[in-house]
Amino acid sequence: MRFLLTGGAGFIGSFILKWLISEESFPVEKIYIVDNLSSGRIENIDPWMGDNRLSFIRGDISEKAVFSSLNDGLDVIIHLAAIVNVDQSFKDPILVDRVNIEGTLNVLEYARKKDVDLIIFPSSASVYGEVNVLPIKEEYCCNPLSPYAVSKIAGEGFCKVYSDTYGLNVVVLRLFNVYGPYPYITEYSGVITKFIQRILKGVPPIIFGSGEQTRDFIYIEDVCRLISLLVFKRFKGYDVFNVGTGKAVSINELAKMVIQISGKEVNIVYGPPRPGDIKHSVADISKLKKKLGFEPATDLRSGLIETYDYMRKYY
Ligand SMILES: NC(=O)c1ccc[n+]([C@@H]2O[C@H](COP(=O)([O-])OP(=O)(O)OC[C@H]3O[C@@H](n4cnc5c(N)ncnc54)[C@H](O)[C@@H]3O)[C@@H](O)[C@H]2O)c1
Repeated sequence: MRFLLTGGAGFIGSFILKWLISEESFPVEKIYIVDNLSSGRIENIDPWMGDNRLSFIRGDISEKAVFSSLNDGLDVIIHLAAIVNVDQSFKDPILVDRVNIEGTLNVLEYARKKDVDLIIFPSSASVYGEVNVLPIKEEYCCNPLSPYAVSKIAGEGFCKVYSDTYGLNVVVLRLFNVYGPYPYITEYSGVITKFIQRILKGVPPIIFGSGEQTRDFIYIEDVCRLISLLVFKRFKGYDVFNVGTGKAVSINELAKMVIQISGKEVNIVYGPPRPGDIKHSVADISKLKKKLGFEPATDLRSGLIETYDYMRKYY
């Protein structure tokens, strides 16, 4: 099978690359990565650059020309490339429009013209905004609170229209907070990475607000397993799934867990709440379980231990 990973040099993309390279449940003949390295890093994919199945193209998905570097016959596109930073999306909504919306349209146009079998589009829990009824079901969409969230809703909308109109198979994954052994701060896993970095330095983790706000953290390997299942099952049609664990954890609990794993004696420091932070977010994953038979396998504690151990060696 032949793959295109847009944004493959980023956090999730580089883990998917690693996963695909060692995949055994289906043959992987070719993997193209298109990434402009705006937030991704070449170091993330460096270990696999020598694999002749991998071709890295440094380019921008908002420019159609980049797609002409690809050979025909792609089976699957995993479209991760995006401006993911919510603050940046407020500062430069035009750029977000160009990359996240026009870029997604370029991917869909390419897929339609070249008859690509499956497109996997990672959307985001941000499409829900602040929801009063928990856990959050797929049908509670949409209440965007940022240009980033608007761009994901638009991307989903185009995926649906292309599926309805041209018969493309598209699966939308509304990712909650994905975390894992990754040394750089990212928009979503940021809180875990920041806590660990500070604890490793022996300084207190900082919580903004009361710490009673909750999030749903899913381990990166579970996301890779889900993507591999979708490819293996040859997903058909169009559908949208929440991707989380279904378990809410407060930021206070999270900080205590990381401190306990570290074995260090550090306190927690509290700062002012950050404007725009939603209070609670937890996924209802019953659709994921029922329709795809998928359940995350890594509990938060085990995922945090993996992440902590990796970061301890890295720094
Ligand atoms: N990490 C999460 O918890 C999470 C949650 C919800 C949704 N998502 C979505 O998953 C996807 C991957 O996120 P991530 O956490 O790996 O972020 P990331 O920033 O690590 O990866 C994004 C990648 O896209 C690349 N990119 C950005 N603009 C580009 C452009 N114009 N052309 C080509 N490449 C470009 C970046 O260089 C980077 O490698 C994004 O679409 C994001 O919205 C992630």
